[in-house]
Amino acid sequence: MHITMISAMAQNWVIGTGKGGIPWHLPRDTRRFREFTDEKFLLLGRRTFEEMTGWFTNQTPIVLTRDPDYKTDHGFVVNKVEEAISTAAEKGAGELAVCGGASVYDAALPYTDELFLTLIDGAIEGGAHFPDYDKDIEWKEISREAFPADEENEYGMTFLQLRRLHPSSLRPSRLHLL
Ligand SMILES: NC(=O)c1ccc[n+]([C@@H]2O[C@H](COP(=O)([O-])OP(=O)(O)OC[C@H]3O[C@@H](n4cnc5c(N)ncnc54)[C@H](OP(=O)(O)O)[C@@H]3O)[C@@H](O)[C@H]2O)c1
Repeated sequence: MHITMISAMAQNWVIGTGKGGIPWHLPRDTRRFREFTDEKFLLLGRRTFEEMTGWFTNQTPIVLTRDPDYKTDHGFVVNKVEEAISTAAEKGAGELAVCGGASVYDAALPYTDELFLTLIDGAIEGGAHFPDYDKDIEWKEISREAFPADEENEYGMTFLQLRRLHPSSLRPSRLHLL
């Protein structure tokens, strides 16, 4: 099971308002997100999942919540990141794409093999932040593509793809359980 993570963040690591929602409108990034998630199993925090109601087409959401009674008509509900990985594996997925929000990025980062980041050219006010992904993990840069601001996109942005250099110490011991 390959674990990927996709996020857009401002220069000050902001990914969301902190009150629900994203404090920018960047169609280029929205298109990237839709293309990236096409037909995939997605891991989402309960808050982000509820914000995205009506957005899903061919994606399979796996909702992370501490609520043992949480129900959804669309996708699966889990109470642990490991359970999300095993659920996706049982359903035959080759990849689980972690799509936020802040607390789920934090919880799933130790399991993540590849990061797909959109680095926005600006510091933007907000209360939800991406974790410090460089702190305990070494990454190799796979690709980087920069785009200036334009009529449609208020900020310039860089699409950055990073691959983990060394497998997570969590993964081998956890994976044999899957
Ligand atoms: N810029 C981006 O790329 C991007 C992407 C996604 C989201 N966002 C933004 O991020 C913000 C939301 O982030 P958030 O951190 O407030 O909410 P979130 O991560 O979407 O959801 C939080 C909820 O997920 C559940 N959860 C989190 N960690 C868990 C764990 N370890 N085990 C079990 N359940 C867990 C809990 O649900 P229960 O309360 O039900 O127990 C928690 O309240 C929004 O502003 C959203 O727009 C930005």
